[in-house]
Formats: sequence, C-alpha cells, structure tokens
Amino acid sequence: MNIREANIRDYDILVALWRSAGLPFKPHGRDMRENIEKELARGCAHFLIAEEKGRPVGTILVTHDGRKGWINRLAVIPAYRNRGIARMLVEKGEKILDDAGIGIIACLIEDYNRESLAVFQKLGYIDFKGMHYLTKRQHPEV
Ligand SMILES: CC(C)(COP(=O)(O)OP(=O)(O)OC[C@H]1O[C@@H](n2cnc3c(N)ncnc32)[C@H](O)[C@@H]1OP(=O)(O)O)[C@@H](O)C(=O)NCCC(=O)NCCS
Repeated sequence: MNIREANIRDYDILVALWRSAGLPFKPHGRDMRENIEKELARGCAHFLIAEEKGRPVGTILVTHDGRKGWINRLAVIPAYRNRGIARMLVEKGEKILDDAGIGIIACLIEDYNRESLAVFQKLGYIDFKGMHYLTKRQHPEV
C-alpha cells in the first residue's frame, strides 16, 4: 500500500474514488476542478490517495487553517474495506497536521452516517456533544 499526495492531475481519480465509495461531494461547488486547483495552490489542503499495486483505492482530504485541522472526504472503495486503509489514511493525515504544529483535529459526520461515526470513534475521535454546526453559504451548491 502506497499513500501519496494528489495534485490537480489526479482530479478524475479523486472524483472516481468519491463516487465509488458513495460519498456525497459538490461537483458544482467546492469540488469543481477549478476550485480544487485553487485550494491546492493555497497550500493548506492535502488530498491523499492510497494505492494498492498502483490502483487507487482510497482517499482523504486534510486541511488546516493554522489553528485547527480538519479531516474530510475519507473514502475507501467497497472491495478494499476493512483492511485498515482508512486507518492508514487518517494516520498519515494526522502526521501532516502534527508536523504543521496543529494539535486539534476535527471532522464533521452527517447524522445518518453511523458507520463513519463508528470508524472515527475507533480511530480515537470523540463525539463532541452540545455543539451546533452553523454555516453561511453563497449558494446551496457551494
Ligand atoms: C468509512 C470508510 C472510509 C472506512 O474505510 P475502511 O478502510 O474500511 O476502514 P478501516 O479498515 O481502516 O477500519 C478502521 C477501523 O474502523 C473499524 N470499522 C471499519 N468499518 C466499520 C464499520 N462499518 N462499523 C464499525 N467499525 C468499522 C475497523 O474495524 C477499524 O477498527 P480497528 O482498527 O480497531 O479494527 C469506508 O467504509 C467508506 O469509504 N465509507 C463510505 C464513505 C464515508 O462514509 N466516508 C466517511 C465520510 S465522514
């Protein structure tokens, strides 16, 4: 298993991985090729791709704002699940954030996604009770 940093030339691979894992994403908003290109150029986003014998099988997005780290878009294609690939991706993402001096990592999990909640809890993440997630959006697809 090899985990590498993606660049914009990997855009179609990332989209294929999200689709194959059944992960919702925003193809007309922040996940548009142009927007991901800009995000990468800003230098605080790391899209990682896990490859098994050259085949892309999983991905994660790791970002930080200088204060807090975020893990997003963790996805492993169905045929490769339960082999520790998500764990490896998260640990690699945590190392990137640790190296950047970031001591707190957060992730947002939709309420229906009990599976993902269970996975993150296994990986040491604690459900923070009593918090609301508020956003302000330029448009619904952003
Ligand atoms: C969530 C997902 C990334 C997990 O990938 P994975 O490679 O199968 O996970 P791993 O094999 O690394 O498992 C990590 C830990 O979670 C546990 N785990 C895996 N799937 C689980 C499940 N469905 N329910 C409960 N625990 C689970 C594993 O046992 C392991 O714990 P352990 O190391 O203590 O044994 C994968 O199921 C997926 O792509 N789901 C769809 C997309 C998604 O919902 N992503 C999350 C968005 S927030």
